Amino acid sequence: MDEGDWEELRRHATEVAGRAYAPYSNYTVGAAALVDDGRLVVGCNVENAAYGVALCAECGLVSSLHATGGGRLTHFVCVNGEGEVIMPCGRCRQLLWENGGPELLLWTVSGVRPMTEVLPDAFGPEDLEGTAR
Ligand code: THU
Repeated sequence: MDEGDWEELRRHATEVAGRAYAPYSNYTVGAAALVDDGRLVVGCNVENAAYGVALCAECGLVSSLHATGGGRLTHFVCVNGEGEVIMPCGRCRQLLWENGGPELLLWTVSGVRPMTEVLPDAFGPEDLEGTAR
């Protein structure tokens, strides 16, 4: 994954941000990620008149991941409507951890960093091992 590949991923995120539904905050977000089988998945934020029901761009991306065949996220970026890289919110970092794990690489506001730095000491599936599920 070179700089050009990351730029391409950002281009997809910016494009999908253009399809966001954000009439309440006026803050559009687009997210794009690569999957371990080479697929690309994207998502945009979708707000609601009941403000708390808003779906972050990452929610759509993760739903698309599963709806199109599953797998693990390997590379991720999210952007605002200007195409500037932003950080995933706290809740979405947890979603990313579940679906990409510690090795997932993110283009962040401070460069490309692994998930372990973006969500240190994360709670994850392994914490539930040994419990009845
Ligand atoms: N938002 C996302 O889509 N992802 C994030 O990680 C940060 C926040 C959205 C939610 C809401 O529609 C808007 O940005 C303003 O918070």
